[in-house]
Amino acid sequence: MASIRLQKWLARCGVGSRRACEQLIRQGRVQVNGQRATLGMCIDAERDSITVDGKPLNPPPPPVYILLHKPPGYVTTRKDPHAPHTVMELLKGLKTPVFPVGRLDADAEGLLLLTNDGELANRLLHPRYKVAKTYRVWVRGVPGKDALRQLREGVLLEEGQTAPAQVRLIKRQGHQSLLEITLHEGRKRQVKRMCAAVGHPVQRLVRIAFGPLHLPKNLPPGTWRELTPSERDALLQAAGLLSTKSSDKRQGITPREQIGVK
Ligand code: URA
Repeated sequence: MASIRLQKWLARCGVGSRRACEQLIRQGRVQVNGQRATLGMCIDAERDSITVDGKPLNPPPPPVYILLHKPPGYVTTRKDPHAPHTVMELLKGLKTPVFPVGRLDADAEGLLLLTNDGELANRLLHPRYKVAKTYRVWVRGVPGKDALRQLREGVLLEEGQTAPAQVRLIKRQGHQSLLEITLHEGRKRQVKRMCAAVGHPVQRLVRIAFGPLHLPKNLPPGTWRELTPSERDALLQAAGLLSTKSSDKRQGITPREQIGVK
């Protein structure tokens, strides 16, 4: 059976953040099989008996994967006392706490993934996995060949050159054009800064795909649904967490079919 670092397992069981769990271990409040635990040790979650302050751990909550159609006007954050509205307000009825995977600007729209699966979220956001994000973008003016080439090959932003991107001019309408842009990296406000840098500021930005997920046509703005099992498996595969067609084999993660969740 695969082993897992103790602090990672404690965090997965909802004891606290990874850092808070490390602190508990350092403070000697965690025991494994009756012995004081040490930071960095690995455990077998199915065999070892783990306590925090003498109490056995609760099992980790089942993973939840939510696809939200974010409307403009909502800040992508779990909590922000200064934000007029946050995306969490749109998740009424959802019992399990989740957090957004990456962010969309407050005025941006489209597909936002939320989950309680920290390992998946870390991987999806890690540059190593180069998870593609596709945006439909209304820009001012009509980008010519040169602007499109720059967007595709790389635009020099203040922190450096952007990676190659796929860019399609879909249509022009009055003084605006609709582009489809696929990025394999995720810098802050990247699409807006790239388009502004080539002289075509963004007027409206909608994320239509995130890795293997697509914004469903039948999901109105402001509403959400759970990922289907095949969407979830495709996402786990994109993050290197599922290598075959079988369900998630990570330690402590119960395949959702087995716990009766659609
Ligand atoms: N690029 C942006 O500029 N904004 C977003 O919200 C996402 C990508």
